[in-house]
Amino acid sequence: MTTIAVRHLWKEYGDQIVLEDISLDFAPRSFIALVGPSGCGKTTFLRILLSEETVTRGEVLIDGRPIAREPGADRGVVFQRYSVFPHLTVLGNVVLAAEMEEAPFTGRLFGARRRQVEEEARALIAEVGLKGAEDKYPAALSGGMQQRLALAQAIMRRPKILLLDEPFGALDPGIRTDIHQLMLKLWNSCEMTVVMVTHDLKEAFTLATRIIAFERRRNRPEEKARYGATIAKDIEVWPKRIAGTRIAGKTSTPIPGRDDPAIPSGPGRDDPALQTA
Ligand SMILES: Nc1ncnc2c1ncn2[C@@H]1O[C@H](COP(=O)(O)OP(=O)(O)OP(=O)(O)O)[C@@H](O)[C@H]1O
Ligand SMILES: [Mg+2]
Repeated sequence: MTTIAVRHLWKEYGDQIVLEDISLDFAPRSFIALVGPSGCGKTTFLRILLSEETVTRGEVLIDGRPIAREPGADRGVVFQRYSVFPHLTVLGNVVLAAEMEEAPFTGRLFGARRRQVEEEARALIAEVGLKGAEDKYPAALSGGMQQRLALAQAIMRRPKILLLDEPFGALDPGIRTDIHQLMLKLWNSCEMTVVMVTHDLKEAFTLATRIIAFERRRNRPEEKARYGATIAKDIEVWPKRIAGTRIAGKTSTPIPGRDDPAIPSGPGRDDPALQTA
């Protein structure tokens, strides 16, 4: 059960302050939607959670410990585009995710373990709706299929934290609705905390348990570099986790109070049910 704590985080690039004194606590298995105007630092924040970028001041704690200096298998990521390797097939992309984790130096697995990983990858590929496309290359897939593949690739490493940077932003509305259902299914069945950047508020309310808005309070041109974005809104949304969902052999542990479908839907904000995770 992974917690993320952000303490008085500042991020500056040269003279420009991007993020200003951000403090947040993400409960285990929460689904956070991060919204805010273009350029306010959402991607920067995700890259800090991925250890692709360092903080200028403050700290980020994962399960109470300072975040690793390097990106690792505990954190998966899906970008708006180009998350998958174009020279590998669908199956190759998903298998590689496991190989990179288990055999980081050679990038290859052999024998029984390889067959086992392939079987797991095929199950996951079917789970994300790509059965039959195992031997296709990404160029032969639609945008929606590529994002399904990118999700399978990220999930294959069983990340504790999944970071999504506008993953569905380039998709047509109909395809987006389908992939939202898939996203909820994956989140339900894996024990992971999701942080997703989106420009789409409807998407945020459809998927997230909590919505955080970053905003620069002072936005006059001469003030832009002097003041970074802070937390403008923090909204709890009633959780949508479905109990007992299974995916590719991974079981979800229902959380009492949260996963109980008998609990009526209601206002989220200070509800004790949200604190039980
Ligand atoms: N590596 C970098 N070096 C210098 N400045 C950077 C760097 N990365 C981001 N910035 C600046 O930090 C600010 C925030 O950028 P970021 O990409 O995090 O915004 P964003 O909220 O993700 O925007 P968008 O919604 O358009 O994706 C921008 O002004 C950007 O120019
Ligand atoms: Mg961005």
